[in-house]
Amino acid sequence: MTERIEVLLTEEDVDKRIREIGEQISRDYADKQIHLVCVLKGGSFFMCELAKRITVPVSLDFMSVSSYGGDTKSSGVVKIVKDLDESIENKNVLVIEDIVDSGRTLSYLLEMLKSRGPADVKLCTLLDKPERRVVDVKVDYTGFQIPDEFVVGYGLDYDQKYRNLPYIGVVKFD
Ligand code: IMP
Ligand code: MG
Repeated sequence: MTERIEVLLTEEDVDKRIREIGEQISRDYADKQIHLVCVLKGGSFFMCELAKRITVPVSLDFMSVSSYGGDTKSSGVVKIVKDLDESIENKNVLVIEDIVDSGRTLSYLLEMLKSRGPADVKLCTLLDKPERRVVDVKVDYTGFQIPDEFVVGYGLDYDQKYRNLPYIGVVKFD
């Protein structure tokens, strides 16, 4: 079986949309400071590009959770692999994710973050696959809603590969 990548969203599509979300976030958080919480590893490419487009003061932190193994199905198990370095108490937390699929990871993560006394917790995801939702999650900012296909690039991997693609592609197996 060979893998092939079909372009779904070009680099230009993604860059343009990130600029738009950055502008929207900057307006929504006018006069506030945002604490961006990046969900590693997938959210890192999106967070860097988005942070550059936000015009209000920003601080950053990272956490890593595992919900997937080496294949394309959710295990349903969410484990904190790396916790945040700093407290989020009284901060306006904006969680940055690559993709919301079943919603299991985010629903767990958002509840956990809300229990730590932040001023506010919102969610921003580059991609959303609404058809796949198993657990309800409120998404505040979405880059693109996409069909139920396994995608890679811009931080998203298949078996740890393809994160560095500057566009979003669908993995096809021939
Ligand atoms: P959820 O808990 O099912 O919503 O899964 C969320 C996580 O699964 C994402 O943060 C990704 O790491 C991974 N994931 C879900 N769909 C895809 C995909 O199409 N490509 C790559 N990773 C995916
Ligand atoms: Mg992820």
